[in-house]
Amino acid sequence: MMLLVTGGAGFIGHEIVRLAVAEGRPVRVLDALRPDVHRAPPQPIPGVEFVRGDIRDPATLDLVLGGVDVVCHQAAKVGLGVDLADAPDYVSTNVLGTAELVAAMGRSGCGSLVLASSMVVYGEGAYRDAQGRRRRPAPRTADDLEAGRFEPRDPESGAQLEPALIDEDDRLDPRNGYALTKLAQEHLGAEWARSTGGAVAMLRYHNVYGVGMPRDTPYAGVAAIFRSSIARGQAPRVFEDGGQRRDFVHVHDVARANLAAIDWLGARAPSTVRAFNVGSGTVTTVGEVAAGLARAMHGPPPQVTGEYRLGDVRHITASSARAREELGWSAAIDLESGLREFAGASTDRVV
Ligand SMILES: NC(=O)c1ccc[n+]([C@@H]2O[C@H](COP(=O)([O-])OP(=O)(O)OC[C@H]3O[C@@H](n4cnc5c(N)ncnc54)[C@H](O)[C@@H]3O)[C@@H](O)[C@H]2O)c1
Repeated sequence: MMLLVTGGAGFIGHEIVRLAVAEGRPVRVLDALRPDVHRAPPQPIPGVEFVRGDIRDPATLDLVLGGVDVVCHQAAKVGLGVDLADAPDYVSTNVLGTAELVAAMGRSGCGSLVLASSMVVYGEGAYRDAQGRRRRPAPRTADDLEAGRFEPRDPESGAQLEPALIDEDDRLDPRNGYALTKLAQEHLGAEWARSTGGAVAMLRYHNVYGVGMPRDTPYAGVAAIFRSSIARGQAPRVFEDGGQRRDFVHVHDVARANLAAIDWLGARAPSTVRAFNVGSGTVTTVGEVAAGLARAMHGPPPQVTGEYRLGDVRHITASSARAREELGWSAAIDLESGLREFAGASTDRVV
């Protein structure tokens, strides 16, 4: 069964390709090698057919989709935009790129798609009020953040809420341009499945970390930004009070989730559309990750700055029960050993 990995030279895509090859699966990669992600071409993986090209180019897609049974779509412009000037690139790469991909899959007859989605489609995480009712609070106001009132409040009573795990049926509430494009990708995948009888699994990754993470770029994930600071001998700077809850999941586990989804798709009914959270199941805080990395790298302890970014969410942590029950997948790498490996790595990419 021939697998096409778009973005297969990137942080997550590369790990998927490595694992697929190790399992003996035939793999082709389509990657544009964006210069803001790749300073130099990546090392080729023996046995992998690599095509340098853009997912927005229909002729390239028609070529690479020949003989492909399943597409694992990782190519995207990732991270939170620095400013509004980034918006056209996000929309073009992620929305137009996915539209061209599914249109080409319609032409080729390829019937299975794994889509790299993200927790950002949810916006703020799930909460419970004092009565145990589920609540999804509105964005925090600049006044609250300025005053150091970081915890979201119940819109009715004004009382503080208790964070809960988000599940796939919770309301989607993207809060920025990148998040909007990830949600648009899901809708395009669903439309493709409905109109062609294909099957799509949308994997909503939580905070992915591990060796190979891009660094020294404002678009990098928070773990990479902390690691870069510590490597320069500087304290990792933690926004708010460091108590933001997240679910950090190791890139190897994310790659395993992709292969589990590929196998699951093989036995699906026509027009299947299913979303899955991909998280470790361990709730941790951003401050704890900064402190853990600082310890592992023998660097300065984190500096909690109280700074904030409007639009950041306070807590977002996943229930990955659906992936466990339906895909037979769960994360295997615990945060402590994953961070230790990440801290000691010398091979992450410099942008
Ligand atoms: N890293 C995370 O924490 C995280 C979390 C949630 C979701 N995701 C999603 O996972 C996927 C992979 O992310 P990553 O962290 O590996 O990013 P990455 O930037 O390391 O990899 C993306 C790859 O896609 C390629 N690419 C970009 N635009 C392209 C185009 N137009 N045509 C062909 N190739 C193109 C890049 O060259 C790069 O190799 C993305 O869809 C991202 O939105 C990542």
